[in-house]
Amino acid sequence: MHAIPVIIDCDPGHDDAFALWLALGSDALDVRAVTAVGGNVDLAHTANNARVVLSVAGVSDIPVAAGAAGPLARVLETAEGIHGANGLGGPAVLPEPTFALEERDAQTLFADVLTAAEEPVAIIATGPITNVAILLRDRPDLHERIREIVWMGGSTERGNYTPYAEFNSWVDPEAVDIVVRSGIRFTMVGLNITHQALLTPAVRERIVAIGNETARFSDELMEFFCRTNDEMFGMPDGPLHDPVAVAVLAAPETVTSRHVRMDVELVGTETRGVTSVDLHGVTGREPNVHVAMDLDVDAFWDAVVAAVSRLA
Ligand code: BDR
Ligand code: CA
Repeated sequence: MHAIPVIIDCDPGHDDAFALWLALGSDALDVRAVTAVGGNVDLAHTANNARVVLSVAGVSDIPVAAGAAGPLARVLETAEGIHGANGLGGPAVLPEPTFALEERDAQTLFADVLTAAEEPVAIIATGPITNVAILLRDRPDLHERIREIVWMGGSTERGNYTPYAEFNSWVDPEAVDIVVRSGIRFTMVGLNITHQALLTPAVRERIVAIGNETARFSDELMEFFCRTNDEMFGMPDGPLHDPVAVAVLAAPETVTSRHVRMDVELVGTETRGVTSVDLHGVTGREPNVHVAMDLDVDAFWDAVVAAVSRLA
């Protein structure tokens, strides 16, 4: 199988951890780099956590670089209520990463990987999409080196950070706007589909039964994440958002999408960051986004379990 070269841009985060593990354990993807952004917690923590997540999985040869500390035009607000003070709440102590953070920043790493690759590279973003927007804004010469962008964020329905805005979209709507307007193929994986990826007791048992180090570590993460999702949203089977974005490329048969118009709200007083998805063509505007709609839930979890099984 020809593996798609990808860069994962993330803010770990419990579900970001599973996104990284799905990507690392998938034959369909070749992870060339990981970049961190301030989001669920501050950049120092997300950059550390990305390396923790790779290290637990036995991976130490993929460069991890730190990017933007906060959104383009706003003050960063974080999501400790869901992810804990360090972003990976659950384990009493996080293991030390087995490798160092890159001295290169995320923009330099993006440029180096895109330039060196023998074919266009996909970017999967699972946090506020600030790093990707900076890349697109500052390096138009590299656009043709990007195969496509897949992002967990937004929703066709209601939100989770505000009544109508999803967290990643709410944190940096200006970045979403830049990415959508770039003309590069863009897939939005919003709450409307990620709320289908529920960590039910049966799913959690399947993952823990894998029995390797990654599965053991994930057990405490899942416990914490399901508890905070229950407390905050009444969802004891926590929705594992971010790996659904990875599944778009790692297991494309599990996700169905529609090509429709999406515009992000930048000025609304109550609706900042809302992704206005025109499912019925009422605006008459050209489609500009592939919006993930439905998940083959069983096949998705099969892909996650298979990927985690291949890790340390
Ligand atoms: C998104 O926000 C974060 O808390 C999660 O990691 C996910 O990327 C869900 O709204
Ligand atoms: Ca995330």
